[in-house]
Amino acid sequence: MVVADENAAKFHFRKLYNSLDAGGFVHTFCTVPAGEESKSLEGLARLWDEFHKAKITRSDLVVAFGGGVTGDLAGFAAATWLRGVPIVQIPTTLLAMVDSSIGGKTAIDLPFGKNLAGAFHQPEMVVIDPDLLGTLPRKHFAEGMAEVIKYGCVFDGGLFGMVGKVWGDGGSGDPPHDDRLESLSYIIRRCAQIKTDVVGRDEFDRGERMLLNFGHTFGHALEKAAGYGNISHGEAVAIGMIAAARLGEGWGMTETGTADRIAGVLKQFALPAEFPDGTDKNAVRAAMFSDKKILSGKINLVLLEKIGAARIVPADMNMIEFE
Ligand SMILES: NC(=O)c1ccc[n+]([C@@H]2O[C@H](COP(=O)([O-])OP(=O)(O)OC[C@H]3O[C@@H](n4cnc5c(N)ncnc54)[C@H](O)[C@@H]3O)[C@@H](O)[C@H]2O)c1
Ligand SMILES: [Zn+2]
Repeated sequence: MVVADENAAKFHFRKLYNSLDAGGFVHTFCTVPAGEESKSLEGLARLWDEFHKAKITRSDLVVAFGGGVTGDLAGFAAATWLRGVPIVQIPTTLLAMVDSSIGGKTAIDLPFGKNLAGAFHQPEMVVIDPDLLGTLPRKHFAEGMAEVIKYGCVFDGGLFGMVGKVWGDGGSGDPPHDDRLESLSYIIRRCAQIKTDVVGRDEFDRGERMLLNFGHTFGHALEKAAGYGNISHGEAVAIGMIAAARLGEGWGMTETGTADRIAGVLKQFALPAEFPDGTDKNAVRAAMFSDKKILSGKINLVLLEKIGAARIVPADMNMIEFE
């Protein structure tokens, strides 16, 4: 049972259909409307209904073909249908390729918050074809690039440098065609490997997996303070990475100039470095400490030592300053 994002299906349905045929699979399709709203209780019920109609059993396979919305939704539907049917993730956005398709976290949003109901359900396999990115709109490509830059900052200075170099020629931020495809394939493979390694050591998010939150503690808080939908996740993470780097530089923990270097690469993808005008910084600070992961009044911040090396630093509210 292929659960396909509406746009991914529009552009790539034929290719997927033919390759499933060629592989000798008996397959059936359903689509998920584009947009975060699909990651809802109604969206989940719709998939259960499709699974019922298609008589999906535990010896069948669900295939998620789309971005993080489709992957999270189909993943949760697969995790819960008959107490769990196997899933294969075929991510079609850069964000899904480097982040959401890997690690087994699945979820839907509830009226009271994002990703509140979900399950850990590891995919049998993740199939990544960078060619699918040729149709991805630039702003969604940038969403994924924010996460790529995050991996570079935390784990791999070489990767960070490569992103800066490959897209350093005027910064059009386009999804690459031809000449850049090889570099992009390398970049995706490297990020996917990093995430796989981290998740392999800390599947249930009790320690090292936290490093993947670089820029996200500030970012999630900003998304919340700005009101969901008013700022994209990638933009919020971009601003969050700069805020974390500046904080670390202020504390003498992060190599001087790091925030500026990150800002330079973000700019190539039209990603922001500064809080939008009029941001209520106290609201952002308060939101940071209302996060579900908070332990005993302290939050765990991911701060950089330099590009490519990070550590987790517990902090309380009065330690957090913004410029
Ligand atoms: N499970 C996890 O570990 C994890 C991690 C990070 C993010 N997420 C979740 O991922 C979601 C965001 O995912 P996303 O950024 O991929 O967004 P998305 O799934 O909404 O896709 C973005 C847009 O791209 C379109 N699209 C997808 N593939 C395309 C293609 N090849 N060509 C043209 N258009 C295409 C979609 O229709 C949509 O409009 C959020 O719900 C977030 O919570 C989950
Ligand atoms: Zn993210």
